[in-house]
Amino acid sequence: MKKNKLYIIAFLIICGLYACKHDVLNNNTVINTDTTVIVAPPIGGGSTTTPTTPAVSDTVCFNTDILPLYVSYCGSAGCHDASSQREGVILTDYAHIMLGIRAKQSSSSRYYTIIGGSMPPRASPQMSATNIATIKKWIDQGALNSQCTNVCDTTVFTYAGAIQTILANNCGGCHGTSPGTANVYLGTYAAAKAYITANTTLFNNAINWTSTTAAMNMPQSGKMVSCKITQIQKWIKAGYPQ
Ligand code: HEC
Repeated sequence: MKKNKLYIIAFLIICGLYACKHDVLNNNTVINTDTTVIVAPPIGGGSTTTPTTPAVSDTVCFNTDILPLYVSYCGSAGCHDASSQREGVILTDYAHIMLGIRAKQSSSSRYYTIIGGSMPPRASPQMSATNIATIKKWIDQGALNSQCTNVCDTTVFTYAGAIQTILANNCGGCHGTSPGTANVYLGTYAAAKAYITANTTLFNNAINWTSTTAAMNMPQSGKMVSCKITQIQKWIKAGYPQ
């Protein structure tokens, strides 16, 4: 009897500890007034101050704007993913990316200055000038681990208006040049349309993270925010409007 009571007390204490932890996390998270931008405290390296003014649409979001670029263009298997870590460099999460970034000092941020120079290697897909400018802007804004949800306009789903950029930023480093990783090439309108038309179910499972094999979920490093997935699904459903 006594033993049972002890177990119950221990259980309650453990539950209490977890509840506390959870609360602390929530308290440290700054939620923007329009609830689209959540600025989480940096996990290390970056600025420890959260913006005093609420983040607005001009804020570069780490999860939706920056991480996909590093993952796609630098973090593929054999290069700078967590298991390969070529030259000891991992570019698939905030903490590791911050090892080569100095907040507000892009010119002394190694993981920024090297882009378009010796990295990615010449034969690999390259980031666009817009991508590079976005990374600079993120650094200028303090290189925060800003987490955004709901950042896209799901009424816009033409190729030129939305899909081209989504595919380039989230998939381009691996599937942006022919033949593409695993022979999946999504680098042009015609190529994306042809591939998805021929492999619709597989493609939908990949972007929705509902594939039977985990490795077939795309991008493998983490699901895109749902509004981007919605934009792609609407584009497919509408017959691939240009
Ligand atoms: C970092 C590299 C990388 C990125 C970024 C990436 N993929 Fe892939 N993709 C792969 C690899 C590797 C495979 C092969 C996976 C396997 O079959 O084990 C693959 C396979 C696929 C497949 C075929 C599924 C299969 O496994 O047969 C589809 C479809 C696909 N990717 C779509 C996408 C889309 C859409 C995006 C962007 C939203 C994306 N990928 C982003 C590396 C990547």
